Amino acid sequence: MLQNVEDDLDVLQEMKGILESTNSDGTSLVTLLQAVQRHFGYLPREAMIEVARAKGVSRAAVFGVASFYNQFRMIPPGKHPVKMCMGTACHIKGGNAILKVWETKLGIREGEVTEDRLYSLDRVACVGCCAMAPVAVVGEEVHGNMIPVTVDGIMLAVELAEKRGREQEEQGPENQEEAAQ
Ligand code: FES
Repeated sequence: MLQNVEDDLDVLQEMKGILESTNSDGTSLVTLLQAVQRHFGYLPREAMIEVARAKGVSRAAVFGVASFYNQFRMIPPGKHPVKMCMGTACHIKGGNAILKVWETKLGIREGEVTEDRLYSLDRVACVGCCAMAPVAVVGEEVHGNMIPVTVDGIMLAVELAEKRGREQEEQGPENQEEAAQ
């Protein structure tokens, strides 16, 4: 489940479930933080405070671990999170160059979110599709054999999907039904 949560009460409620399902006592801090990030898509502040409480360690210790590992993000990801694989196969096949292309096209560095919150950019470890290296995952979609121009194609597809979504919203549900008939 990937979800952005602004409301502290929602975070607390959902943290209860995460802590119960992960057996927080016997789980390492890193594993627990990974579970929290899998659920929310990032580490909300309130969630990290809950982790500190559950593990009986200081907040500073939890924030320290979260900021030490670059797999953790403290801000919500963009609507279309871009994850560039930096596993060995992707690294050898030029993943780093593709990451730079993403940075240039999106106007952000890895770990950041675009101002319109449409994209975030992160580097990740092997996503398990090494035969297709270099690989980028955008949202839920895996894109293999990436070359610089593929980035433009993906961004264009996202823009078109966004435009279509906005048009459908403007039309409202009744007009959409009529159009479908
Ligand atoms: S190293 Fe990139 S998919 Fe395995």
